[in-house]
Amino acid sequence: MKKAIYPGSFDPITNGHIDIVKRALSVFDHVLIAITQNQEKSSLFTIEERQDLIRQSLDSERIEVKTFDGLLVDFAKDEKIGFIVRGLRAASDFEYEFQLAAMNRHVNSQVDSVFFMTSSETYFLSSRLVKEVAMLGGDVEKMVPSPVAKALQEKRKLHQNI
Ligand code: PNS
Repeated sequence: MKKAIYPGSFDPITNGHIDIVKRALSVFDHVLIAITQNQEKSSLFTIEERQDLIRQSLDSERIEVKTFDGLLVDFAKDEKIGFIVRGLRAASDFEYEFQLAAMNRHVNSQVDSVFFMTSSETYFLSSRLVKEVAMLGGDVEKMVPSPVAKALQEKRKLHQNI
C-alpha cells in the first residue's frame, strides 16, 4: 500500500487543505494527516479541536488523522511512511517549501517530498487569512468546511465576550 503523510498546523483546516488531500488520494492509497504540536502556543484552536475538525471535515477510510511532536521525518519513520505531501500556492511558498523539503531529506534521506499545485479556486486561501477574516466578522463559508465555519463563529463569540 502506498502511503503519504500530509503534515501541517491545520489551524484550522481549509478547503485548500481538503483539495490537496483529495488530490493526494489519487496518487496514494492512504494519507496520514499529521498535525504538529509544536506551534500550540500561538494557535487559535487546540490540537484536539484541530484534530476533531479535520475528522468532521473528511470522511474516508483512506484517511487517518494523528498529532505529532518533534521532527516530522522521525514521525514519518515511526509510521513507516516515505513520502511527505505538501501544497504549493504562489511562488512565495516555493522558497520555504524548497528549504523544508531539502532539510527533511538531509535529516533523513529515506523520506522524499511530493508537491501538488493548489487549485485556482483555493490558491488565495491560508489558515491565517481565513482566521483573520472570520474573527473580524467576514463570511468564510466558501473557504472552509462547514464544521470549521461553525467553530470559527464560536471562537469569535468567545473572543468578543472576553
Ligand atoms: O502548515 P505549516 O505550519 O506550514 O506546516 C509546517 C510543518 C508542520 C510541516 C513544519 O513546521 C514541520 O514539519 N514541523 C515539524 C518539526 C520539524 O520537523 N521541523 C524541521 C523541518 S525542516
